[in-house]
Amino acid sequence: MSIGDIQMIPFGDLTREYKELSEEIETAIKDVCQNGWFVLGKKVEEFENTFAGYIGNNVYGIGVGSGTEALHLSLVASGVEHGDYVITVPNTAVPTVSAISFAGARPLFVDIDQDSFNMDPTQLRSTIIKEKKRLGRKLKAVIPVHLYGQSADMDPILDVAKEFDLKVIEDACQAHGAEYKGHKIGSLGDYVAFSFYPSKNLGAYGDGGIILTKDPAEAQKLKMLRNYGQGRRYYHKIIGFNSRLDELQAAILMIKMKYLDKWNNRRREIANYYTKYISNPLISKPSEMPYGRHVFHLYVIRHSNREAFCAYLEREGVNTIIHYPIPIHLQEAFNGLGYLEGSFTVAEKIAKEIVSLPIFPQLKDEEVKRIVEPINSYDENN
Ligand SMILES: Cc1ncc(COP(=O)(O)O)c(C=O)c1O
Repeated sequence: MSIGDIQMIPFGDLTREYKELSEEIETAIKDVCQNGWFVLGKKVEEFENTFAGYIGNNVYGIGVGSGTEALHLSLVASGVEHGDYVITVPNTAVPTVSAISFAGARPLFVDIDQDSFNMDPTQLRSTIIKEKKRLGRKLKAVIPVHLYGQSADMDPILDVAKEFDLKVIEDACQAHGAEYKGHKIGSLGDYVAFSFYPSKNLGAYGDGGIILTKDPAEAQKLKMLRNYGQGRRYYHKIIGFNSRLDELQAAILMIKMKYLDKWNNRRREIANYYTKYISNPLISKPSEMPYGRHVFHLYVIRHSNREAFCAYLEREGVNTIIHYPIPIHLQEAFNGLGYLEGSFTVAEKIAKEIVSLPIFPQLKDEEVKRIVEPINSYDENN
């Protein structure tokens, strides 16, 4: 796309990836079609084992319909019921919180740390201490989100969850291949939810998700929950849902899985370039925390006059997106929770300033340079 005579640099472009992989992908799709088995077959099992094996030893994978469903089923499996409470952060994609609501529970928020933009473990602890007195056993679980591809600081989160007997469900929907203290995200919490939405670091050609757990009994329960509650066909042990990764998506993910590390490295290369060469005093750049390896699902900078800055970049031919403009506690859908502006000052401030720059593996070097130039020459008079 172009505006005037400027060629727009897109925020993302999955057609470039398809051009690289079309032969492999089309063969994989054809194989599934020729086999004539489309739901919960060999490809799903192969992918579940491959993805779980990539994350670590003794990890089980349960392919489901989406990242939202991965969170929802994890909450149900962990025993979260109507009237319970689940703690998470306000600066996330809305499905983290809608999954809590759909499990019948109420979200409680804690603010984020201003460097990582992830859950602040100190505030988590003080919130739990305060709320535990009021809610007792109704306070059931914590969902840390590994936002933008960077791990939350898991050790203190896991410690406080253990101390207060809370389940930990990690939202790793943006963090395929990210690491915490040398370990891939996916095996620390009781359940870890990933999304395969097409634009993710590992994306399907439609919706998809997976839950990882180290507990084989939980894995069996989740397999029943995703498939009408049945262990054996037509024998329903529990009340379940229909939320299954399908064979076509699993076959596509098997192909794309081979490239995940290479693509993550390319994302990091682009991020390093941005970090090294963006040098405008009006712009803050993201920090990579010392305890983790960021996989830069998103590269998010900050500018205090964001709207004018984004309009300028658009005129200069650079597409940007805001992830996310309104924290969840201030979204209309969650008015009923009773949170007011000022409740979470870090999340609220950041939401007004953040701008995501294009970052995807097929972004060309010359495009990356073309993005940095107008950022560096921007001043308030542009
Ligand atoms: C942080 C986070 N959580 C949950 C989800 C939900 O995943 P899905 O779109 O696959 O349902 C997403 C995806 O957008 C996400 O980014």
